[in-house]
Amino acid sequence: MVVKKAAESLTIMTNIVLPNETNHLGNLFGGELLAKMDRCASISASRHSGKRAVTASVNHVSFRYPIPQGGIVILEAKVSRAFSTSMEVYVDVWYDAVFSGEKIHTNEGIYTFVAVDENNKPVQVPVLKPETCLEKERYAAALRRRELSLILSGRMKPQDSEELKKLFL
Ligand SMILES: CC(C)(COP(=O)(O)OP(=O)(O)OC[C@H]1O[C@@H](n2cnc3c(N)ncnc32)[C@H](O)[C@@H]1OP(=O)(O)O)[C@@H](O)C(=O)NCCC(=O)NCCS
Repeated sequence: MVVKKAAESLTIMTNIVLPNETNHLGNLFGGELLAKMDRCASISASRHSGKRAVTASVNHVSFRYPIPQGGIVILEAKVSRAFSTSMEVYVDVWYDAVFSGEKIHTNEGIYTFVAVDENNKPVQVPVLKPETCLEKERYAAALRRRELSLILSGRMKPQDSEELKKLFL
């Protein structure tokens, strides 16, 4: 059984917001950010699995704070839990406002990636070992997020969930 630390999948991308990436308000366009988040998460999933990884589901994305043109954007992706062939990947986005010295947590996204072979068939991934408090917290909660995603995509019946039931019953 191969075990890998969450930190081994850490992927950091730093970008500057260019004019062609902004919306009519002069802030980073949501779709541009989503593309960057997906790319960053995909690299993280490949680092953990050692395979090509495809996006199976975008489970959650939040947009809390706008990032202006010229702003520096930092994306940090890390695998939060590995299952059999799928992995949950967390992406945190920061606006590094270098002139004021502030680093603002602007966005967060939670993705499911699946490792695939050369025939695009799902393949087993290493077990993930969380180490920090945040990694352990995200690892624990990933089980119920997986159930919710499987229910919403019609892959699981609500009555078959275990973790979600614990929340409500
Ligand atoms: C993702 C994909 C490989 C899954 O293939 P599949 O034949 O449905 O495979 P399976 O049913 O064996 O599912 C594979 C894993 O994905 C998980 N999965 C699939 N859909 C999911 C969803 N919506 N939410 C959470 N997990 C999901 C399954 O639970 C399973 O996980 P496990 O092996 O860890 O238990 C296939 O649907 C695909 O190729 N989709 C297109 C991917 C793509 O093009 N993405 C965008 C560009 S990268």
